[in-house]
Amino acid sequence: MVNVAVLGYGTVGSGVVEVLSRNASVLCRNAGEEINLKYVLDLKEFPGTPIEKKVVHDFNIILNDSEVSVIVEVMGGVNPAYSFVKSALLQGKSVCTSNKELVAKHGAELLGIAKERNTNFFFEASVAGGIPIIRPLEQCITADEVLEVSGILNGTTNFILTKMEKEGASYSDVLAQAQSLGYAERNPEADVEGFDAGRKIAILSSIVSGQQVNFEDVYTEGITAVTAEDFAYAAKLGVTIKLVAKSCVTDTGMYVMVTPRMLRYGKPLASVHDVVNAVCVKGNMLGDVMFYGAGAGKLPTASAVVSDIVDAVRNRGHHVNNGWAQDKRDLIPIDEVENCFYVRMEGDASEKLPVLEELFGGVTLCDNVCEGEFAFVTGAIKEAEFAKAANSLKGIKNRIRIEL
Ligand code: HSE
Repeated sequence: MVNVAVLGYGTVGSGVVEVLSRNASVLCRNAGEEINLKYVLDLKEFPGTPIEKKVVHDFNIILNDSEVSVIVEVMGGVNPAYSFVKSALLQGKSVCTSNKELVAKHGAELLGIAKERNTNFFFEASVAGGIPIIRPLEQCITADEVLEVSGILNGTTNFILTKMEKEGASYSDVLAQAQSLGYAERNPEADVEGFDAGRKIAILSSIVSGQQVNFEDVYTEGITAVTAEDFAYAAKLGVTIKLVAKSCVTDTGMYVMVTPRMLRYGKPLASVHDVVNAVCVKGNMLGDVMFYGAGAGKLPTASAVVSDIVDAVRNRGHHVNNGWAQDKRDLIPIDEVENCFYVRMEGDASEKLPVLEELFGGVTLCDNVCEGEFAFVTGAIKEAEFAKAANSLKGIKNRIRIEL
């Protein structure tokens, strides 16, 4: 029998407890032995619940109990999660976490400690919730150089963009709906500004490159500037708008960015709607594969965490190497990356066309949607050149990268 402790009895923590209890026999079969929940660490008491007698308030009780071999960290945030996880690994316990902030910031160091102590630090649930993506990258797609990972890694923003597209609604109206449905936090900044997706793509980029990709180096734009008018032009262009996290290896190096993108209907990520997440991976031998499913939510996320517990039990006394080293991966400056852009601007298209063609080297005008403005699409152009040309123009209302 293996004893487990869960740190944090919030949404994911209570989901982990539920999965451990409801799927006890399947877990026993898959892990090869019974998995017993010994402790739940939380600040609160939970009288009248099945965990009532397992609740402790002092982490040291768990740390110093030699019977506990697997610790599940689902508290979120960097502190005190980091010190709890570090001390647990130093004691030789395995740790499974859903905490993307912790993994993005300290993943390489914690993996190093796990290796030294011959134990494991697993984090399948930290990216795309219930979708298996970390383990496939680490253990399945190992014969390839991964050339590109691109994904819809944030359910809240995908829900907002889907509703804006379907209902022609404004960003602020749909955000309010998302908040009342409990998808978006009262302070939605991490989701809508792209930071949550940025942490997740930093983790995936670290895994595929085998080096530390710092979240701070990920170029990030959120969805707050996307308007109902942009969706109206998108419909004319036969594209949708998604918040895409992308990590790409080019001849000159790797770049990582999170930005809204217009995607032609028919591209795999264009058909990912509502709170669903998806990740596309391109290997140099494999070609393209796609992972799709629930990127958040209590039970899907808990399922991923508990699959890590099973892996920790299967690999007790054996460190599973994932190749993510601590040395920093330098990324190529975003200025050098080429993209096509959709641009919406004030004025009259035929009047402005000559200057636009001169600045952007050829543009395609979009069918008109609103009076007094127009939209066009550029060819592939380096980000720095686009920014220079766009800065020299007055009246630009929005620009979004576009993949036709
Ligand atoms: N806020 C995140 C999302 C939760 O909306 O996808 C899962 O990480």
